[in-house]
Parts: sequence; C-alpha cells; structure tokens
Amino acid sequence: MDRIRNPFSPGAGSPPPELAGRDAVMEQAKVLFGRVLARRPEKSLLMTGLRGVGKTVLLNEMERMAQALGYRTILVEAHENKSLAVLLAPHLRRLLFELDRLAGAGNKVRRGIAVLKSFIGGIRVNVGDVEFGLDIEPERGAADSGDLEVDLPNLFMSVAEAAEERGAAVAILIDEIQYFNTTELSALIMAMHKMQQRQLPLVLVGAGLPILPGLAGESKSYAERLFSFPDVGPLPEPDTDKALRDPIEEAGEAIDADALQAIFRLTRGYPYFLQEWGYQAWNHAAASPISLQIVNETTDQVTRRLDENFFRVRFDRLTPREKQYLRAMAELGAGPHRSSDIADKLGAKITTLGPVRASLIKKGMVYSPSHGDMAFTVPLFDEFMRRVMPVFAPGARVSGGVHD
Ligand SMILES: Nc1ncnc2c1ncn2[C@@H]1O[C@H](COP(=O)(O)OP(=O)(O)O)[C@@H](O)[C@H]1O
Ligand SMILES: [Mg+2]
Repeated sequence: MDRIRNPFSPGAGSPPPELAGRDAVMEQAKVLFGRVLARRPEKSLLMTGLRGVGKTVLLNEMERMAQALGYRTILVEAHENKSLAVLLAPHLRRLLFELDRLAGAGNKVRRGIAVLKSFIGGIRVNVGDVEFGLDIEPERGAADSGDLEVDLPNLFMSVAEAAEERGAAVAILIDEIQYFNTTELSALIMAMHKMQQRQLPLVLVGAGLPILPGLAGESKSYAERLFSFPDVGPLPEPDTDKALRDPIEEAGEAIDADALQAIFRLTRGYPYFLQEWGYQAWNHAAASPISLQIVNETTDQVTRRLDENFFRVRFDRLTPREKQYLRAMAELGAGPHRSSDIADKLGAKITTLGPVRASLIKKGMVYSPSHGDMAFTVPLFDEFMRRVMPVFAPGARVSGGVHD
C-alpha cells in the first residue's frame, strides 16, 4: 500500500495517529491544570511505566493542554549526567524574562530573577552562558545555601510568586525523572510541598521509570501525599485494536479482525511495538484489507527493526558483565526476578553483584519494583537477550549476536 500515506509512527516520542486508551490520565491532567488555575489544591502527576509505553507522548500532549489553558510551560528531559539545577536554571530564566515582559506592577519578577541568580551562585556550576542582561544583583541568602532541598523550594516559591503577580500560571514538565538522584527528587518533592501549602500557581508533571520504590523515609511519605502516580502500561486489546484500526480506516483502508488479534498477541499491547507492526504491515500489504498472512509475513522484518532501533541501542551501551547479568535475568523469563535467583543463575554470590546491579539501574536498564526484586525497564527485553545471546554460559566472555 502507499507508503506515503502510512499513518503509523514508530519512534521515541513520535505522536501516534490515535492516542488510544489514555483518556483517564489525560482527564486527570485536565483536572490538575484546572484546579491549580482556580487555586485549589491538587496532587501533581508523576506518570511511570516501562520504555515505549507512551510516556513522552503523553507529556507532550499535556504540555499542549497546559498551554491551551493559558499556562507558561517548561518541558525538560533529565539525563544521566546532568543535575536538576543545571537542567532547570536556563528555562526558569527564560520564563522569568517572559513574565517580565507581561504587563503588571510589582517587583516579584525582579525578585525572582535575583533569587535565581542567587541559586545559580549557590550551586556553583556552570550553567552555560546564563547571561542575565538585567542589572539585578543576586539576592544573597535567598537560595544559595548549597542545600538543594532548601534552595529549590525557595526558588520555586519566588518563581511562582512572580507568576502569580503577573496573573500567570506555570507548568513544569519533566521527562525521564528516574535519572535524578534521591536528593534531587526529594528537593522537587519539597518544592511542590511549598506550592501546595501556599496554593501557588505552579504545577509539576513528570514521567519516567518507577521511582517510588527508590525513595525512603520522609521523602516517600511526602511523595505519596503530594503526587499521584498513574501507571502507564500496555494497552488492553480493545484499545490496541482501536490504535491500529482507526488510523487505517481513516486513511480509507481496512484490516482483518484476525490480523488485529495476531498483532495484539505479538505486541502484548505495548504501544511502540504496535506502531512498528502497523507500519510494517501497511508497507508489506499489496492492497486492503491487511490480512493475518501479511502480519505473519512481516514478523521477521519487525523483529529485526525492533532489535536494531529499540533494543540494540540499549544493549550496545553495556559492558560484558552487565550483558551477562541481563542474560541471566532473561534465562529466568520476563520477570521481575529475585536478586538471589539471578545470582544463583550466574553462580555468583549476591553480594558481589551489587556494583553491576547499580550500574544497570543507573543506565536505566533495570529497576527494582520492590525490595530484593529486579525487572527489565524495556518490555520483551528478555526475548531480545535470548536472541542476541542465544547461548547462556555463565562465566564465558560475551561476544557476537544475531545481527552482528
Ligand atoms: N496511546 C497510544 N496508542 C498508540 N500508540 C502510542 C500510544 N502512546 C504512544 N504510542 C507510540 O508508542 C511509541 C513510544 O512512545 P513514547 O512516548 O516514546 O514512549 P516512552 O516515552 O514511554 O518510552 C511511539 O511510537 C508512539 O507513537
Ligand atoms: Mg520517553
């Protein structure tokens, strides 16, 4: 069929032709934005889920929603090696300057800029060329203690007060929140606590791998009170069908019911995979309707594409020891698995595996859904590991792979 009209869009963050099965979480965001505009308390949102379920797509949708409601927005993506402060400072600066251009009296915007300057001085990092332009001195002592759990709440307060003074509201959207360390997460939580207490017009929406299990003590109980954690998961079969059928029919074509069933079975409803299957099946079909046979014929091609684009990029960043650890997990199946069972598979003592486990978590390859358990962050990664390393030989050197 005509490739140019192919509606499917596999790819990180690519907006799908049909955003299926996400009405409830979008509604939750709408209520959050609406209530904060009306100065009513509401829990911030932290969407968590595995890779490829559509978190980034949702975050982008929510940014658009916030803007349509009149919010000023900041959308950032956390990285393994970039601090929260460095990530946010330039965006907060831009925001304060936008607020400065809005009509309105008062000096809270200037104060916001002074506090931001103090904050940047306090963290003593190079935020690139943060050129302030305005002749404003940093407000000493405002947000420069060097303790992020104190400074970030103070900074958010002054930004939110500046916004309030100009009749504006701010939405901060952060992707890949799992890359923040516990101090940064706890500072964010404390900052949002201040926003709620003072009912200031600043909301936070985050997305990432599950983080709650990694928080401890006070941060955890605050987080549970201040945030709701909608779980973004695979789509149930009716939504998977809709995600595939609606775009095909909208393009004036058709797909058979048994073809849809097969795609659901192959993808388990994971959004990234179903975009890829939809895309390849469309291209492979000579004419409508897309049949079961077409789906079956594309399976090898789709698997190869997923291996190359979705799985392989993550695999290539691993050391041989890390690969071996993941291969042992794969030997046990989809998971989650007890750390002790993985150690047994490797014929190693559990205590010696601490460092490799920690580096895999840092790289976002695995996470701990509950104490003592490990799970893959990428759906169907166990199957990929068995494909790329067909033989599991604990202790042996790692090399080769199906597509090498
Ligand atoms: N609700 C949905 N229905 C159909 N496809 C979706 C849906 N959400 C996301 N996708 C598709 O899934 C893929 C991955 O989305 P992305 O937002 O990058 O996931 P994540 O951020 O969770 O890793 C994209 O190709 C996107 O088009
Ligand atoms: Mg993403």
